[in-house]
Amino acid sequence: MADTRKLFIKTYGCQMNVYDSERMAEALGASGYTMTDRADDADMILLNTCHIREKAAEKVYSELGRLKPLKIANPDLKIGVAGCVAQAEGEEIMRRQPLVDLVVGPQTYHRLPAMEKAVRDGARAVDTDFPEEDKFDHLPKGPRAGRGPSAFLTVQEGCDKFCAFCVVPYTRGAEVSRPVERILSEARDLVEGGVREITLLGQNVNAYHGAGAGGTWTLARLIRELARIDGLARIRFTTSHPNDMDDDLIAAHGDEPKLMPYLHLPVQSGSDRILKAMNRKHTAESYLRLVERLRLARPDLLLSGDFIVGFPGETDQDFEDTMTLVRQVGYGQAYSFKYSARPGTPAAERAAVPDDVAGDRLQRLQALLLDQQRATQNSMIGRDVHVLFEKPGRDVGQMTGKSEYLHAVHVTDPRIEKGQIARVRITRSESNSLGGVVL
Ligand code: SAH
Ligand code: SF4
Ligand code: F3S
Repeated sequence: MADTRKLFIKTYGCQMNVYDSERMAEALGASGYTMTDRADDADMILLNTCHIREKAAEKVYSELGRLKPLKIANPDLKIGVAGCVAQAEGEEIMRRQPLVDLVVGPQTYHRLPAMEKAVRDGARAVDTDFPEEDKFDHLPKGPRAGRGPSAFLTVQEGCDKFCAFCVVPYTRGAEVSRPVERILSEARDLVEGGVREITLLGQNVNAYHGAGAGGTWTLARLIRELARIDGLARIRFTTSHPNDMDDDLIAAHGDEPKLMPYLHLPVQSGSDRILKAMNRKHTAESYLRLVERLRLARPDLLLSGDFIVGFPGETDQDFEDTMTLVRQVGYGQAYSFKYSARPGTPAAERAAVPDDVAGDRLQRLQALLLDQQRATQNSMIGRDVHVLFEKPGRDVGQMTGKSEYLHAVHVTDPRIEKGQIARVRITRSESNSLGGVVL
């Protein structure tokens, strides 16, 4: 029986969760589980959850409700909650949802095989420790087959920045950088398995300071070393904090050809008053100077960002300052969110901006960001980009991949195969993608 069990994982939240889901699948693979993409076919369902905003967290409970019929139909089905909601609300999940068999936090999922066994024996298991040991030392190693040409690799976890709105320092814990050698060997394994692009992940990835040969390595040094791996064509990293963009990392954008010209650099607000209240420890001006230096190093750098509107105390003028900053920077694309009060964070104690005001502001900001995204996409028409092809597109014969600027690009060309990098002339811009012809 053990070798026929099926695992279904649903992933919410950021790329770190996507990476963790892959690693959880590998951990349970050692216990005889194979993946299925159908929940009704599974012997175990894991929800890998996100706690960043209230809406994200509430999704978990509604999803669990939807799973109830499956549990009734198959009493042997085991249901687990992993990720950041598990970390923050583990005991409460157990109380609110009797159908949940196990709760596992982001730092203990290497213990899943043992938990699975306990759960099979009829126990309910919760593990939301911040353990002494490093989970990565206890997860399966070696080349991983069957993945696409682009992979995530977590190099740094947790955050010590404590922005006043954010749960990450609580759900993910303190900042930890993985040792250089482990990262390099994981990267080599990925490349051996056919990966051509690696995105280095961390909640605060550019704060990376891992132990390596001769001392502590920065992210820039790590990138330069990774760039020496033959067969690895592209390197990206996310998410960065403006205060951790050091000189060498800025320079790498100009002189390291494998580092792609796309940078996600959240600023959150364009108002110094609000930035201070958010505990961001940078100003709008220092952010703009940083953008200037990055563009000096790499003039075609496409910038992305995150914004929060309606942070407690945000006035109309503060919001206008955000709009001004967005106009000054010119983003290729960006994410924006209405502030969501998160239990346990300092900002949650403060008086909220009325919901309709925050909603109006969000709409205006999103319209501006969408204009900028469209303009950036349209400016690609007629240009030649390099596309790493990842999978078949929606239309017959179509292949889709990402340009160096992270734009999704579709082509219809029988010569193109998955994993190939080809030069493409962009001929059209659609709502969230580009189209072109292979040169
Ligand atoms: N480490 C990253 C961000 C991680 S969370 C950084 O520091 O930039 C991703 C984004 O979610 C944040 O950049 C922020 O814009 C948004 N976010 C975080 N907490 C939020 C909250 N309480 N309400 C609304 N948006 C939030
Ligand atoms: Fe959250 Fe990012 Fe701030 Fe850390 S730096 S507290 S992850 S928003
Ligand atoms: Fe969400 Fe946790 Fe990522 S709260 S954004 S899944 S670090």
